[in-house]
Amino acid sequence: MKLLEDRIRKDGRAINADILKVDTFINHQVDPALMLECAKDFAEHFKGQGVTKVATIESSGIAPALLTSIEMGVPLVILKKQPSKVLNDDLYQTMVTSFTKGTNYELTLSRKVIDEKDHVLLIDDFLANGEAATGAVRLVRMAHATVAGVGVLIEKSFQPGNKKLTEAGFEVYSLAKIKSMSEGTIEFV
Ligand code: G4P
Repeated sequence: MKLLEDRIRKDGRAINADILKVDTFINHQVDPALMLECAKDFAEHFKGQGVTKVATIESSGIAPALLTSIEMGVPLVILKKQPSKVLNDDLYQTMVTSFTKGTNYELTLSRKVIDEKDHVLLIDDFLANGEAATGAVRLVRMAHATVAGVGVLIEKSFQPGNKKLTEAGFEVYSLAKIKSMSEGTIEFV
């Protein structure tokens, strides 16, 4: 998507070969007009596929995912990262390791919000190693629902997330694909 690529060129900042800062328009300050255009693109791409819910992982995916859910006329489900300290039969949980942040968390979904009738579109801001997205897929499957696909704003194509998801049979739709980065330069696929 040219609009997003242009904005990444203008306001994104590669701090090294791995990490792109987008905190002035995506994940700290949010540009709502840009997110709405991204959401329209996701909705257009996945229309007619029987999507019943959009899901994202808190927190940076919420803005584009909410706007996509509005565009598609379906509810938004926010998968939570807080671990449940009490045993609770009403939750599905799966452990996710973030290589970028060096953290683990229990991705959590209430049994009440996704069930076997659902066809779920996953939306997130970044696709890096694909750990978060594959964790989200596991939760959707635990709920006996199906995955319509994975939409991401920015895919770092030099990391294995896309390959992992594609090989597992899921469609990945990325609005901006970064081939390589180094301090101060960003190259798109
Ligand atoms: P993966 O899910 O694709 O495997 O990626 P990984 O675990 O390595 O990292 C996931 C977290 O790191 C996500 O944030 C993601 O947004 C963030 N991230 C990955 N690459 C970049 C990058 O180049 N730049 C920035 N700014 N963030 C990146 P999160 O833990 O889900 O937190 P939140 O920001 O959504 O709250």
